[in-house]
Amino acid sequence: MLSITSKLPKVGTTIFTVMSALAKEHQAINLSQGFPDFPISNDLIGDTYEAMRAGHNQYAPMPGLPELRQAIAQKVNHLYKSSINPDTEVTITPGATYGIYTALTCFLNPGDEVIVLEPAYDSYIPNIELNGGIAVCVPLKFPDYSVDWDAVKHAITPKTRSIIINSPHNPTGYVWTSEDMKMLDELTRNTDIIIISDEVYEHITFDAMPHESILKYPSLFARSFVIYSFGKVFHTTGWKMGYCIAPEPFMQEFRKVHQFLSFSTNTPMQVGLSRYLQNEQAYLSLPAFFEEKRNLFLDLIKDTPFTLHAPTKGSYFQLLGYDKISALPDKEFAIWLTREIGVACIPVSAFNHDGKDDHLVRFCFAKQDETLIAAAERLKKLTMK
Ligand SMILES: Cc1ncc(COP(=O)(O)O)c(C=O)c1O
Repeated sequence: MLSITSKLPKVGTTIFTVMSALAKEHQAINLSQGFPDFPISNDLIGDTYEAMRAGHNQYAPMPGLPELRQAIAQKVNHLYKSSINPDTEVTITPGATYGIYTALTCFLNPGDEVIVLEPAYDSYIPNIELNGGIAVCVPLKFPDYSVDWDAVKHAITPKTRSIIINSPHNPTGYVWTSEDMKMLDELTRNTDIIIISDEVYEHITFDAMPHESILKYPSLFARSFVIYSFGKVFHTTGWKMGYCIAPEPFMQEFRKVHQFLSFSTNTPMQVGLSRYLQNEQAYLSLPAFFEEKRNLFLDLIKDTPFTLHAPTKGSYFQLLGYDKISALPDKEFAIWLTREIGVACIPVSAFNHDGKDDHLVRFCFAKQDETLIAAAERLKKLTMK
């Protein structure tokens, strides 16, 4: 029997798959995985359906349909005052996770170090390791999970090739400030550090906080791959559609890898998205829409023994402490909560390479109000330990 030597020996099934399966098994309300349970726009469905009916069903151009790249460049140049060239600096991808992997694959060589701020989205470290790189993990500061800039500075070595940043942040909801961007600029200036900026939650910030895109800062953009997801913007996580924006020399290398990974991305969805993007309200309405959901969720959990360290500033996740309920490690607590109370969440330790456990769990509030109310009814049954 042939066997293979795993390139990811420490990796099993992701916590998102585990918790969603457990939620299904126990008919729990699933506030674990980050996906909305409400319908997507009928206009977007209509635009995509029309595209299929009109025969847009064959391979799209390798970098993506010109009309979609133009719509994206128009959008970001307006929002972030950038001057992105749709022909040379934008590529459409099958989702953001793919974009991150492709970007890392362009430039990482064995032994290169990549700084990862933890807790972190779970694909980053495996993506680095698959490319022979070494993840250098720097913890964010508990309890607000702001960036510990001294720690980042100390983590930089002559082998540092890249840093992955993510704002608004999954799972903590921290949103980078202009001060954070200034620090990143200072630390990377005169180095050959490449930034991967994961901005999939760009339109989900609260309390009037602006999203500090890399695209707003020309000196940072010059060393960056910036990653976006239509899944998070138009509630279409199952479509796996996204894009990468990078300066032309970086984008040339990105496209070299992309053309041999997937070659191109779903054609009718690109047509549908390019038409739907003309309606700017579809994304400009998102902060208010999700802020209402966050506020409803925060209001509902007031009647439960969960502890709130800080209301989330962005993304559609809220962290809650459970010290008053249980002394279990967070993973065991999340499993117990799913089985016994019927509400699924994600243990935050799953976002730390070493399983560091701050006794916090993550809830996704991108759900219909009825779902959040039903979940809260169950959570109210929890008692103090
Ligand atoms: C921080 C972050 N980046 C990337 C993604 C993945 O985006 P996509 O589904 O477009 O691959 C997610 C999804 O949860 C995420 O939270």
